Amino acid sequence: MTTIEHNALTAEQIQLVKDRKQIFYIDRFALREGEVVALVGPNGAGKTSLLLTLALLQKPTGGRIQFNGIPASPRNLLSLRRQMAVVFQEPLLMDTTVLENVMAGLRIRGVPGEEARRRAGEWLERLGIAHLAKRPALRLSGGEAQRVNLARAFALQPKILFMDEPFASLDYPTRTALLEEIGTILRETRITTLFVTHDYTEIPFLARRVAVMLDGRLIKTGTVAEVLGIEAIPQRIAAPWEQDVRRSL
Ligand SMILES: Nc1ncnc2c1ncn2[C@@H]1O[C@H](COP(=O)(O)OP(=O)(O)O)[C@@H](O)[C@H]1O
Ligand SMILES: [Mg+2]
Repeated sequence: MTTIEHNALTAEQIQLVKDRKQIFYIDRFALREGEVVALVGPNGAGKTSLLLTLALLQKPTGGRIQFNGIPASPRNLLSLRRQMAVVFQEPLLMDTTVLENVMAGLRIRGVPGEEARRRAGEWLERLGIAHLAKRPALRLSGGEAQRVNLARAFALQPKILFMDEPFASLDYPTRTALLEEIGTILRETRITTLFVTHDYTEIPFLARRVAVMLDGRLIKTGTVAEVLGIEAIPQRIAAPWEQDVRRSL
């Protein structure tokens, strides 16, 4: 039981039922402090549903979720949510400037204007988009918009970062550049992160640990090497986990 204290997040026996259909049942899932875990699996496996549940944006039908050993409850829901940031595939930017978009979340959390501006500016710089600060956010390219989205999440200095296929709609060169940069940022900031993807080639850039989801179950968890059979960022890789998925069916 002592291990629970060292986990940023622990979920036990969580399940989600919708329209009488069980979307997922997970006996146990944990994020240790400072680690990046990739949640991978085919479309429809339940990855987004699980991410939304762990980020406290979707109420589970049953089970327990703890953050640093503190159980989530209706009373602490808002304060727990404010310690997290969520990045979706679509950037969902507001119709205002890039800077205002990154500052907005900080202002909502009560960060004073000057500090919000400074923090937002730092993250625009870090993501290579400081020159776009005054541009209308809705007129950016897909890659630029996703950089704004990521800057907005990092500026919040979340205790846990959730990312749901953040690179999926980007073209290959844009995606590769961003994957490398985000990998570096996550290693430096040591933000506890759950990274969802259906593209296993993205995993080694960001994560050390992988959880494979299929039909609402976690069918395999382990290190990148254990699950994918590879150690470092690959030039060209096959899909060993797909074979594992088939074998375990
Ligand atoms: N609001 C909903 N009502 C009913 N079924 C849903 C709802 N949202 C998702 N599902 C179902 O849950 C399953 C998992 O979906 P999802 O979590 O989006 O998977 P993934 O992100 O892995 O593609 C799918 O079969 C989907 O049709
Ligand atoms: Mg999804």
